[in-house]
Amino acid sequence: MLDPSRRTLALNDERTWFQRAVFYEVYVRGFYDATGDGQGDIRGVTSKLDYLEWLGIDCLWLLPFYASPWKDGGYDVSDYYSVHPAYGSVTDIEELLNQAHLRGIRVIADLVLNHTSDQHPWFAESKMSRDNPKSDWYVWADDDGGYQSAPVIFIDSQSSNWTYCPDREQYYWHRFFNHQPDLNYENPDVQEAMLQVVRYWLGLGFDGFRLDAAAYLFQAEGTCCENLPATHTFLKRIRSVVDAEFPEAVLLAEVNQVPSEVVNYFGNGDECHMCYDFPLMPRLFLSVKTESALPTAEALRQTPDIPAGCQWGIFLRNHDELTLEMVTDQEREFLYSAFASDPISRRNVGIGRRLAPLIDNDRRVAELLHALILSLPGSPILYYGDEILMGDNIYLGDRDSVRTPMQWSPDRNGGFSRADPARLYSSPIIDPVYGYQVVNVESQMNNPSSFLRWTREMLSVRHRESVLGDGEFKLLSVDNDCVLAFARFLARDERVVLCVFNFASKVQPVSVNLSDWISRVPVELLGMTPFPVIEDDGAYRLTLAPYGFLWFELCVA
Ligand code: NOJ
Repeated sequence: MLDPSRRTLALNDERTWFQRAVFYEVYVRGFYDATGDGQGDIRGVTSKLDYLEWLGIDCLWLLPFYASPWKDGGYDVSDYYSVHPAYGSVTDIEELLNQAHLRGIRVIADLVLNHTSDQHPWFAESKMSRDNPKSDWYVWADDDGGYQSAPVIFIDSQSSNWTYCPDREQYYWHRFFNHQPDLNYENPDVQEAMLQVVRYWLGLGFDGFRLDAAAYLFQAEGTCCENLPATHTFLKRIRSVVDAEFPEAVLLAEVNQVPSEVVNYFGNGDECHMCYDFPLMPRLFLSVKTESALPTAEALRQTPDIPAGCQWGIFLRNHDELTLEMVTDQEREFLYSAFASDPISRRNVGIGRRLAPLIDNDRRVAELLHALILSLPGSPILYYGDEILMGDNIYLGDRDSVRTPMQWSPDRNGGFSRADPARLYSSPIIDPVYGYQVVNVESQMNNPSSFLRWTREMLSVRHRESVLGDGEFKLLSVDNDCVLAFARFLARDERVVLCVFNFASKVQPVSVNLSDWISRVPVELLGMTPFPVIEDDGAYRLTLAPYGFLWFELCVA
């Protein structure tokens, strides 16, 4: 059962709950099918809340559940106020929120701000003439020559950010698929319309939003149309609504940009509460493949300080490709050759694989990487299925490779659905290594040494050691490049947690400089085993197993 102290923390801990929360990303379509039609649904998520509570999750992030033609996993919204019929109804959402909150679990929604579907009635109206009431709700131009410095993001399928609309005999602007026209935020009515959407869902009980594609809201000639001042101004407007009307809600910005740009999305603590740490994520994979802590240490050194009351969101994988936009050309080539030697696994600027196949299903590497995202500065965001080391299907198009049904049991359809297998939105994984007969929640719950049970244990340590969530961070010097060592601590408190990681495939000795904590006794946090005292020179010697890690509390003797 869940530690009652954690539940109190989760729902009573006012405005900064997200700094200590563990997030879990749910692709509703692939999670659990409660209605038996072959698609996951909201009631399916509700019925799995006991599992998520057991695992130790604090906050669910639901991928878009709105009405949509589903040409981009729901990121093509045709009505912000209704739920996709295959997912259920607004009443089902209310029930999910109630049931989650009863268990001390918060829920955030994905808010697709930047664009709508071309099936949205706003666009249907806008495209009909140049002078209708919605005519400038989107970004129109007579030719496709504008904003040429803005790169195309979906390079696999799009050749331009402009598409011709025969109805209006003009071009419309889109940063993603051509069926996703960008909204025109220069228009105050568009801003108001989106603020109403914000109020509606937060009013219904959501605990915040993941702000999709938050960097692209405005355009300006001669720029890459990303991170523009007007975009920050509008995001601050959303924040002021949240602060005034829903003070415990969190805004998590999806901004795949360099650190010096991402940090601006926190504002002075008056813009987004959280941003994903995109630059860090590929460096973790780089460190694993090069067996060197240096890429990770360098990324951490480049990570800017953020205002008080803010937090990074750190992750290994998500519903998109493992994006390689934030690495150098040389690093990208290396990562492609190391993790995607088969070109069929490449997607846009990245790799369309899940965690387990990326790391050759090496349990030691999976533990190392999870231990990192559970202790580095930020709140960890787990991707559904990674807690059982689910596989993928690289032969499915676009990013569907990593969106196959959750594997609940060895039963038909992996326990995901009672439907005729031919009716499923996607086949479950059936290969001999990752197939649902071998990789599933039920069998891992019953196996004390499974990755699922290990993850649950780690989450409980993370909750117990809250300094891992909101503590300060200090990289420590070591005499071995394979090893990363850092401390997490609170300035106002004597509690210090030491974390040490070996990126090498071979056992490694290391000396860590612990001169700040001479005469303390390191106590290992998983087994509570005391280690030798830190001697006067502060040079602390450890031996780490291949891909091994150790977490200690440095106790005052
Ligand atoms: C980012 C989302 O993560 C991705 O899945 C989507 O395709 C684009 N934004 C466009 O909304």
